Formats: sequence, C-alpha cells, structure tokens
Amino acid sequence: MTDAKVTFPSGFLWGAATAAYQIEGAAAKDGRTPSIWDTFSHTPGKVLGGDTGDTAVDHYHRFADDVKLMAELGLTAYRFSVSWSRVQPTGRGPAVQRGIDFYKRLIDELLAHGIAPSLTLYHWDLPQELEDAGGWPHRDTAVRFAEYAALVGEALGDRVELWSTLNEPWCSAFLGYAAGVHAPGRTVPVAALRAAHHLNLAHGLAAQALRATVPARAQLGICLNPAQVRPLTDDAADVDAARRIDALATRVFTSPLLFGRYDEDLLADTAKLTDWSFVREGDLANIRQPLDFLGLNYYTPTLVSALADGEEGPRDDGHGGGASPWVGAERVAFHQPPGERTAMGWTVDPTGLYDLLKRFAADAPGLPLLITENGAAYDDKPDADGQVNDPERTAYLHGHLAAVHRAIADGVDVRGYFLWSLMDNFEWAYGYSKRFGAVYVDYPSQTRIPKQSARWYGRVARGGVLQEPPR
Ligand code: FCB
Repeated sequence: MTDAKVTFPSGFLWGAATAAYQIEGAAAKDGRTPSIWDTFSHTPGKVLGGDTGDTAVDHYHRFADDVKLMAELGLTAYRFSVSWSRVQPTGRGPAVQRGIDFYKRLIDELLAHGIAPSLTLYHWDLPQELEDAGGWPHRDTAVRFAEYAALVGEALGDRVELWSTLNEPWCSAFLGYAAGVHAPGRTVPVAALRAAHHLNLAHGLAAQALRATVPARAQLGICLNPAQVRPLTDDAADVDAARRIDALATRVFTSPLLFGRYDEDLLADTAKLTDWSFVREGDLANIRQPLDFLGLNYYTPTLVSALADGEEGPRDDGHGGGASPWVGAERVAFHQPPGERTAMGWTVDPTGLYDLLKRFAADAPGLPLLITENGAAYDDKPDADGQVNDPERTAYLHGHLAAVHRAIADGVDVRGYFLWSLMDNFEWAYGYSKRFGAVYVDYPSQTRIPKQSARWYGRVARGGVLQEPPR
C-alpha cells in the first residue's frame, strides 16, 4: 500500500475563530457602550432563554488563560473581532484608549505564544448610536466604518498582519434588516438591500483607509458566507430558483467586490422593491479594492426548488424562522439536504466546502482563500470523569479538512483553516443553547475543558497531517 498521509502545505494556518460579542462579556466596562446586539438581546423574546452577551465567556478578563490554552492545543492562528463600541463608543470621534489597550494586550499575548492574530473589524455589533442614526440602510454608516477602521489600523497595525473588514455581511443585511432574527431586528425588505450596498461600500472605504494606515505587509480581506446552492432537480424552474438565491446570498457581495458591478439578474429580481438608486456614481470603484485573500465561512449546503404561484413549500432555510430574508425571491422553497444533521439541524456535507473552494478558485483566479469559519454544534456534556467526548464534531472537522485538502491537491490556493469556534459561546438568537466550541465552557463557573475534538485538531495542527478520528 502507498503512504496515504494527507499532508497540508507548510505555513498553512491552523486556527480557531471567535467574535467579540459572543465571548468578551464586560459589556459596560472601560467605556464600552451598547451595540445593536446588546439592545437586541435585552429585548424580551428576541434571544432564546433571554440570554445576553453581558458576561458571555468572560474572555475580556480571561484572555490570557484562553491564549495559553490555544498554545497548548497547538493553534498557529486566532481569528477574533474588535467590538466597535468598545473602541469608539458613539461610532464617531477619537478611540477610547482603554478599549484599544484590551486588544493590544490580547494581541501581544498571542504573539508571545507564536499565534498569528487575524483581526475582523466588524462581526455584527454596530454601535447602537449608529443604528439610531439609521444603521446600515443609511449611507453615512459606511463612512463611519472607514473612520473606525483607520483608528484601529493606526492603533494595532504594527502588530497584526491579517485584517478582515466584515464578517458575513449577508447576515448583517438580510437577517438583521429583512428576516429580523438578528439585530437590529427590522423586517423591511428594501432596508436589507440598502444595507447590503452600504456594507459593500463600508468594506471598500475601510480597505482604503486601512491601506493608508497599516504597514505594507498587511494582508487585507473580507469574510463572506457564500451559499452553496443546489437545485432540487435539474428542472429549469429549480435551476432558476438556485440562481436567484445565489444572486441574493453570494453575488450581491462578490460581484461588486471582485468585479465592480451588481449583476443584471439581481437588479431584475429585486426591481419591484427598488431601482438601486442608492448606488451612487463612484461607489462600485470604491468597493472593488485589491484583496490579499478572500475568507470563506461554510457550514452546510442550501437545497432549493421553485414554487408555482399559490403553492406553499418548505421554508426552513436554517436561519431560525422570522420573515423571509430572501427579498425578491419569495417563490423559492428550501429543503433539508440529505444526510446527518448537527444540533443546529444543518446537514453535514463536506462536498459543499469543496465545491465552494473550486468555485472561488475559478471566479477569482490568483486570489488566496482562507476558510475563516467551519464547524458544528452538538449537545456536548462532560462525562462522569469530566471529559467531553464529541466524536461527531471530530468527524465533521475530519470530513471538512479532507475536502480542503482535496481542493488544495486540485491546485486551489487555500492558506489556512479556522474552526468555529475556539470555545462554546453566545450563539446569537440561540443564546447559549448551541455549543460550537472545540473547548467546552461550563458557564456558571467559566471553566474551560478542551473537548476530545480540540485535542484531535491540535494533533492535526502540530503535524500538518490529517489524523484519523479516534474510534
Ligand atoms: C456564523 C457566524 C458565527 C457563528 C457561526 C455558527 O454565521 O459568523 O458568529 O455564529 O455562524
């Protein structure tokens, strides 16, 4: 038999990811003011169990221990986000030094442990003051974001090389302003389209602001969650349903970012809602900025079919109900793809990740790709010995890393992988009910227990070789 070792390229980044509101806690400490997620989570009925990020996993105070744990596990990179309202409480004006200092301490700790920091400027936590002024549907928010990017770039540019502007702008725009299941909880279809454009503009303006402030060695990108859409049948109507969802989920961001345009089919599909006159002269050139990498977040594929007029069909697209986020594509049914499911009800299908990587290798030739999120929630519990055995998560990670390797073997330029998430945390509208962590958190005591999957992932990270999952 030949040696079947699945070896990753040297220098491949082995990371884990988190986001500020999901882990930091210390919501009112050192000058931080509420973000839209503080307001939303404190609004009765919005988050399961009334959970909030007030304390979360207290990472603000425990970051040094958390970094030590990352190093013990063998991670070489860590993706985190900066809380905008911790750094610039009103969304305007100078940076608050105490807020900046927290991130300096965190980054210095990472660097001291040989872990590359990967900083995301925006993971959904808009300062509430900016929402009150109109939020993402309002153009000025993009200008505010660029100013904030420059502040963070000036303060932290000397110690961070990997920069992402936005995390999953699709969720910010469509779950936040159309479906209403994410903050700020609005359900106004056209507001979601305006938000999407202003998020694109925010990215472009922030990328320019960062280039002007951070050293040339900095790598700039954005983290998207493109849907891996598949039609239920090859019937023309189902294929067209998949095209519509692809336009609204993915191309509404990738076409302006990569090609400087909004696609004709997207404009036609949404024409009843808007003429897109909020896109001003020069915006598309501002949005299309050179990128050093594209971050891809992937969890599960999306399976759709067309609905005939008057016909009702399954509507669960995995985003937790609410109004439809699919503005302009209401006649589309969402189906559960076949296969095992995670605790989120999301089908486990690594071929979706492989297909996604192949797609972006073709759509954006020469642009390095990073998997900036991938992972699964399961109902983990410590056993009588205090161990957390999570074979399903290890199998999930194994399958998806094998898919990444297969893409690399086909010539796709994938530079790293960040599992979601380093540790259990506040899973947005699901509160603390869904555990995505490689590390278990006992919330009352804040004790961290690396799950079996974390140990397994650490072995993969250390050797750069995919290990068989433990039986
Ligand atoms: C992604 C988010 C991340 C986490 C995972 C499960 O959409 O970026 O914060 O909630 O899903």
